[in-house]
Amino acid sequence: MEISVKNLEKYYSEKQILDIEDLVIEKGKITGLIGPNGSGKSTLLNIIAGLDKDFYGVVKYDGELINKSIYKNMTLVFQKPYLFKKKVSENIGYPLKLRKVDKEEIKIRVGEIIGRFEIEDLKDKKAHLLSGGESQKVNLARALVFDPKLLLLDEPTSNIDPESIKIMEREILRFNEETKGTVLIVTHNIEQSKRLCDNLIYLDEGKVGF
Ligand SMILES: Nc1ncnc2c1ncn2[C@@H]1O[C@H](COP(=O)(O)OP(=O)(O)OP(=O)(O)O)[C@@H](O)[C@H]1O
Ligand SMILES: [Mg+2]
Repeated sequence: MEISVKNLEKYYSEKQILDIEDLVIEKGKITGLIGPNGSGKSTLLNIIAGLDKDFYGVVKYDGELINKSIYKNMTLVFQKPYLFKKKVSENIGYPLKLRKVDKEEIKIRVGEIIGRFEIEDLKDKKAHLLSGGESQKVNLARALVFDPKLLLLDEPTSNIDPESIKIMEREILRFNEETKGTVLIVTHNIEQSKRLCDNLIYLDEGKVGF
């Protein structure tokens, strides 16, 4: 999915948080979003995800304004994971259940992604009992399970050990290569952006720089 942002202005009270004249996030690529704390990265992600509608300007998805089918084909992985008080495997299968995929197929796809993420030991645990890093892994697995056309990631590996970062980066790359899904990832880790990203956007005080 290609994202185009035009004349985007976002305010909290009187304060301008975003001021973006023209920005395109290329289809099928992995784009990194970098910039200091408070520069507006999460705010921009929330707007693109359609969760924040309180802004001026236009955001288009393959040339269309946001609609039900676009919502269905994208997902945002939050900076702070939110999982249900249910088994990990049920959490991961949830986006498929929501999209009315049949039960047998859900079982197969959840099993497959649990294998890829090497989290077999977590699958029967209650998700609210996981550690911070474990939750982030499950959160990413849940986002990838339904092959979204647009994947928005807000610092997905901020609390993760090096071995698990390797697995998560491998799965993000695999997702992008295999499905050609578009990825927009916020990261403070320059090395990570070099490993993953085709393009970089630098945000500073709500403005795009290069
Ligand atoms: N709900 C809110 N009400 C008022 N101000 C907000 C709100 N959410 C964010 N802000 C402000 O908007 C600015 C941008 O915040 P945002 O969370 O987008 O930054 P960020 O680039 O994601 O930072 P970080 O790297 O720390 O995650 C900050 O100055 C923040 O204080
Ligand atoms: Mg943020």
